[in-house]
Amino acid sequence: MNPASLIPLAEPLPVHWVWFDVLLITTLTAHLLFMNALLGSAVIGLSKNLRGQGTIIREVGMKLPPLLALTINMGVAPLLFLQVNYGHFDYVSSVLMGGWWLAVIAALMFSYYGFYIYKFKYEAMSNATRTALFAASILGLFYVGWMFTNNMTIMLQPDIWLKYFETSGAFLNWSDPAIYPRFLHFMTGALAIGGLFVALLGQVRTNTDMIETGMMWFTRATLVNLAVGIWFLAALPQDILLAFMGRNIPATATLVISVAAAVFMLVAGFKKEPKKASVWAVITVFFMVCTRHWLRTLYIAPWFSIESTPVTGRYGSFYLFLGFLIVGLAAVAYMLKLYFNSRQERS
Ligand code: HEM
Repeated sequence: MNPASLIPLAEPLPVHWVWFDVLLITTLTAHLLFMNALLGSAVIGLSKNLRGQGTIIREVGMKLPPLLALTINMGVAPLLFLQVNYGHFDYVSSVLMGGWWLAVIAALMFSYYGFYIYKFKYEAMSNATRTALFAASILGLFYVGWMFTNNMTIMLQPDIWLKYFETSGAFLNWSDPAIYPRFLHFMTGALAIGGLFVALLGQVRTNTDMIETGMMWFTRATLVNLAVGIWFLAALPQDILLAFMGRNIPATATLVISVAAAVFMLVAGFKKEPKKASVWAVITVFFMVCTRHWLRTLYIAPWFSIESTPVTGRYGSFYLFLGFLIVGLAAVAYMLKLYFNSRQERS
């Protein structure tokens, strides 16, 4: 069977595809930053706790339920934009993963409740029970992340979709050599940004141990991630690797900019400047997400080019969307202002 026959037809877009790609990249950057702060700080807290130092786990434990809510909320937006431009790939991979994919909802709810119970029933549990609950909630997050990496890689390779007919149905992408460094790259990045989050929280709490620990995880994990990134690059199919090595100039330039930003970020980390490092971290993650977008474009190039999607040019709903976006952002800014004012008054 020709795998191309399994790719559904692309639906016409109301406005130019570039709008959805830009919104996809921007909102995914926000999603990944929250996910990193959540997962990374949780792992750092747990690791300190296992070594008998329980302050950081308690401090980050207070922040994990809102961080998880923000990660999910900021995940919905890229999911929608992804479905607009690449839905005919992403829906297929979600279906091919079957129960594995559906279980993401159960895993998310499990971790959510776990972190809530940890925060609000802290005193009522023994250290062993709450540590076990905390660790199990982290495992739930790893499961979700692994499923996303599977979905995002299966969608790019229609030739492996045929496995569905050869095996007993739903499958994961275990045989792809690039999936392991890819997932590790995301998870090590989470440890780095999680460390930065711990350090920033330490600055607010004037807690030197949190600043020291956070910056140590940040710099070490970033150094490790430079090596994991090289492994990831080397594991990619050869034509894609060559595209990033100069054959495709915009893709290579995006990769070079993101690595350069990571070096500036690392320098700020070694100088123990959490705020400066955070600015570089946002820039780095943004350009890494752009690089990842190039990766998707290069992977699906033999099957589909976004330029070929028909555009109807009906801008009405798009203007409505922009209007709601601006009013929504203004409402959020106003709520945050009220929140910080009330905090100031209380203190
Ligand atoms: C809270 C646990 C979560 C974790 C640990 C997590 C982790 C990740 C990771 C590692 C990726 C990159 C995968 C790759 O490219 O290999 C990713 C991408 C993504 N996540 Fe999340 N995620 C979480 C929750 C969610 C939720 C609840 C949603 C949606 C409602 C979501 C939406 C997305 C989307 C749409 C992408 C890919 C966008 C694109 O390909 O452009 N995530 N996530």
